[in-house]
Amino acid sequence: MSFPVTRLRRLRKNPILRNMISETSISVDDLIMPLFVCPGTNVNNPILSMPGNSQLSIDLLLDECAKILAVGVKSVLLFGIPESKDEDGHVACEHNGIVQKAIRAIKERFGNDLLIVADVCNCEYTTHGHCGTIVDGDVDNDLTLVTLANQSLSLAQAGADVIAPSDMMDGRIKKIREILDENGFSQTPIMAYSAKYASGFYGPFRDAADSAPKFGDRRSYQMNPANSDEAMREIALDIEEGADIVMVKPTMSYLDIVYRAKQTFNIPVAAYSVSGEFSMIKAAGANDWIDEERIMMEVILSIKRAGADIIITYFAKEIAEVLNRK
Ligand code: PBG
Repeated sequence: MSFPVTRLRRLRKNPILRNMISETSISVDDLIMPLFVCPGTNVNNPILSMPGNSQLSIDLLLDECAKILAVGVKSVLLFGIPESKDEDGHVACEHNGIVQKAIRAIKERFGNDLLIVADVCNCEYTTHGHCGTIVDGDVDNDLTLVTLANQSLSLAQAGADVIAPSDMMDGRIKKIREILDENGFSQTPIMAYSAKYASGFYGPFRDAADSAPKFGDRRSYQMNPANSDEAMREIALDIEEGADIVMVKPTMSYLDIVYRAKQTFNIPVAAYSVSGEFSMIKAAGANDWIDEERIMMEVILSIKRAGADIIITYFAKEIAEVLNRK
């Protein structure tokens, strides 16, 4: 049946009808807010390239968690800025590491009201800023698996609810699953950064987390932005190795990957709307070149529409505020 019998504009006329036939919606339940924790007390170092975000010491981090919970966001993703770094990232595995301490403090204050996702990677903890142990000028895959597994266990022991490896080493999900299971954490899920691209969109984050590589780049472990079939192989392998949730990162330039992942694998998909995506919207908004709130909601909606179940975004709190107004 076509025009004039069919007129799609009929269902667009009235806002109530428009909402009734809306195919996609955003809920606070879908959102995870990334936070950066640093040593000290009463420390709030604003991250200039990510307006509204700061490196926070644990006391202020707890206040921020309270604010996040108050608007209805129930999950945070933690990144640490450690006191000191080393060659291999051993500081990330310490019982009294910065993220471990933050997790215990959050759990003590909020219990299970707030879900803690712990990022697992070495780049914030190595002197050279790469995601693992360097041998002959490149990250050695199998040596790095050892620190990643130890870091994961230590974060689980501190009370992390979900372990989220973002390093892109081969075989890390298997190793992490093994060490968690052997130590009584068989119920701790793994959210794998499965299709993580070597992207320019991570720029602001590397200032935020002080994790920029001191030499070279991450192209020998993160994915080539040109590839989509390879992303499906990465995801398939992570699922085989035991990933409970798979992630695509970044989002806006990779929505085809989000879509394909959801269509191909019957598994929860997370999408990480990364720092550069956030900062571009903030910068254009601050200049009044775009309607920031409208674009924020449109972008997040598009990520859901593409097939993401979970969205990690620095806008999480602001999105919740908009949803609460409606
Ligand atoms: C650590 C990590 C990065 C991000 C999340 N985990 C940086 C990187 O790979 O360089 C990026 C997050 C963002 O840009 O918001 N490996």
